[in-house]
Amino acid sequence: MSKITAAITAVGGYVPENRLTNFDLEKIIETSDEWIKTRTGISERRILKEAGTATSDLGVPAVLDLLAKKNLDPKEIDCIICATVTPDMFFPSTANIISDRIGATNAFGYDLSAACSGFLFALTTGASYIESGRYKKVIVMGADKMSSILDYTERNNCIIFGDGAAAVLLEPSLDGYGVQDSILKSDGAGKNYLHIKAGGSLRPATIETVLAKEHYIFQEGKTVFKYAVSGMADVSAELLERNQLTGDDINWLVPHQANLRIIDATAKRMGLPIEKVMINISRYGNTTAATIPLCLWDWQDQLKKGDNLVLAAFGGGFTWGATLVKWGY
Ligand code: UT7
Repeated sequence: MSKITAAITAVGGYVPENRLTNFDLEKIIETSDEWIKTRTGISERRILKEAGTATSDLGVPAVLDLLAKKNLDPKEIDCIICATVTPDMFFPSTANIISDRIGATNAFGYDLSAACSGFLFALTTGASYIESGRYKKVIVMGADKMSSILDYTERNNCIIFGDGAAAVLLEPSLDGYGVQDSILKSDGAGKNYLHIKAGGSLRPATIETVLAKEHYIFQEGKTVFKYAVSGMADVSAELLERNQLTGDDINWLVPHQANLRIIDATAKRMGLPIEKVMINISRYGNTTAATIPLCLWDWQDQLKKGDNLVLAAFGGGFTWGATLVKWGY
């Protein structure tokens, strides 16, 4: 019997209408369009600004887009894994909230927390369900409302992040399409450089934690940058080597969109020209778990059956990894 692989058979995505441009940021913090563009490659990001909205409001339209493309009944979905660091609530999971809202009544689901590498970790997990032969339709998504954890009075982080969500459908392939190999890594020592100090069991919310702005992202950007450049490039090169591939065999690099300079370094290390790299950071900024599937969403019309893709990420934790995918449609 042929081995079952997990093919990506559809992509859906959603970004809010509202744009926050570098020029808008110039009006609220001490920064400039030129600084942001040169240091990060970002021109604007999308913000879900309506009161009472949450990450599921990004995730639901992304999954509905995917279902419409496949003309798929939500009741056919076996499982939804939602990678996010900005869940609607601590519990229940955002995946459950999304399942309920789209009518995926036969699906089990849960959230996966691996920050910017969340989509890759979830993709590998979802692929294993398919490869086991037990499940036939698994949705893997990345969704983050980063604006909910940003302090728009300090310039270090609010310029980088944006809101968005995207999802892929995994189905069994007997022809070898889909996820081929993955290298995933974590190092908890990285927690000191990128985290949210309060709101968890270590420092539950109090008036003091709120006044001290401890519920916003803390990032030591320079240090994270240093680890991200080597982490993402090393793991991508290791993945190629392990699969006896070179840059010539790869049609697309799909990198996490944190900083254009980190993306450039990874492409160089893999021997890939920039034309083979999916880059949309200028339009969306860093949407954390959503960056990689949002690239697939933007580029889906250019992808061809059999294309070799390397998906690569680095983020909070630290977490990082790379996944090799043979495109299935
Ligand atoms: O996705 C999850 C993982 N995260 C990442 O991968 C992010 C990694 N880090 C980065 O992308 C970059 O470190 C940042 C974009 C966050 C910052 O860029 P940088 O080139 O590392 O800048 P810096 O923090 O070293 O600051 C350089 C200068 C400083 O001024 P002085 O001390 O040289 O006078 C900052 O005060 O730029 C100043 N600066 C700014 N100026 C204008 C910092 N932020 C800003 C700003 N606008 N927004």
